[in-house]
Amino acid sequence: MTTRAPFLRQAYGAYQHRDIPEEDADLAHVGPGTPLGEYLRRFWQPVALSSELKDVPVKTRIMGEDLVVFRDKSNRVGLMELHCCHRGTSLEFGLVSEKGIRCCYHGWLFDVDGTILETPGEPADSTLKDRLFHGAYPAREHKGLVFAYMGPPDKLPPMPKYDTLTVDGEPGYRKWDVEGGKFLLPCNWLQVKENSMDPIHTAFLHTIISGAQFTKQFGVLPELDYMETPTGMVYMATRRIGNYVWVRMKDFILPSLHQVAPDTEDASRAHEFARPWLTQWGVPLDDHNTMNYRLRHYTDEEWERGEKRPPVQTFGQACDRPYDERQRVPGDYDAQMSIHWGMSRHGLEHLAETDRGVITFRRLIRDGIAAVQRGEDPPGLVRDPDKIIRTYANNTVREVPPAATEEEDRELLRRIAREVAEGYVSEPPPL
Ligand code: FES
Ligand SMILES: [Fe+2]
Repeated sequence: MTTRAPFLRQAYGAYQHRDIPEEDADLAHVGPGTPLGEYLRRFWQPVALSSELKDVPVKTRIMGEDLVVFRDKSNRVGLMELHCCHRGTSLEFGLVSEKGIRCCYHGWLFDVDGTILETPGEPADSTLKDRLFHGAYPAREHKGLVFAYMGPPDKLPPMPKYDTLTVDGEPGYRKWDVEGGKFLLPCNWLQVKENSMDPIHTAFLHTIISGAQFTKQFGVLPELDYMETPTGMVYMATRRIGNYVWVRMKDFILPSLHQVAPDTEDASRAHEFARPWLTQWGVPLDDHNTMNYRLRHYTDEEWERGEKRPPVQTFGQACDRPYDERQRVPGDYDAQMSIHWGMSRHGLEHLAETDRGVITFRRLIRDGIAAVQRGEDPPGLVRDPDKIIRTYANNTVREVPPAATEEEDRELLRRIAREVAEGYVSEPPPL
């Protein structure tokens, strides 16, 4: 099996493509024991919306493991192995109880941490329940999402406190909503997540190809730059709009979170750090399916106007349109899930200058995998439970007249972008 397809140097050369290279397993496979899977398991990740947990348990699949998630009648959330440790009945048919969940088949009762509370029907002097646990993972709720940690118990980190999710009530910002905020992409995690560091697609897919999905100013081709941050990386997409320079920074926060600055920006006035409108996690269900979880931030003004744009109903994100419409006006869903049959084959790619963000993204993931393999905490994992983790996604617009020539102006844009990004990273704006 070839690892790289030949570089075609002739017209009508498709015949040269005989074998299809395999995926890069280290970066694509998420099951237990895989390099990426073990890395991702070191971080807390969303596994459900709080609103999904009602009176019956919810069957799910996270990183190739079949699980059940539920809220018991004491209002505690649990995430545990789907198949009962007695004889394997699925706990999706279990009874949510005052304390934990009871298997429907023979009534064994499991607490949210896997403690076996009861084994009715067993002899009264049976000690099995005192010696055995059902497989469970720590789970907690935050901002309408259920998060879980699926790594080694002795490496359990505190839940991270991101600034955008921690501070409510700052004037002009800090309302949030997660209603309905999840949608599935039937493809591998990597190609979903690396889209977040691919700024050029915003100008093509979202503006030139599909008509202005955002403001028309997004159609101006940006100057691109990238920077690593204490938590991952950002890209800066910088555009000249008349007398204004608009720097748009997007965050990628290791290992699976990104934040997006408002897509309503038209660069018609100068302003500093306009905070993100979207926080989004990508969680692999298995090698071929990825669940995006979205949390939407509103400004006070939007909230008061009742201008609710639900987190998911953004054009082209989910599979919610007829095929012929998707062909004529494709969106992110179509571009991402259609890459190489849903599993990106890097040996078929031809990475170019505009892929610097994607290349850096892949390197950061490889660095994290290597750290875990060395027995270390991966970069981006924060052990201090009180630390507010600063994030950097924003729109900034400054009034700076154009330089004398186009080339000099491009140079000027790149310089301003660096100044803006370095300034925010070294001294984040007050919360
Ligand atoms: S299979 Fe669950 S209690 Fe027997
Ligand atoms: Fe996009």
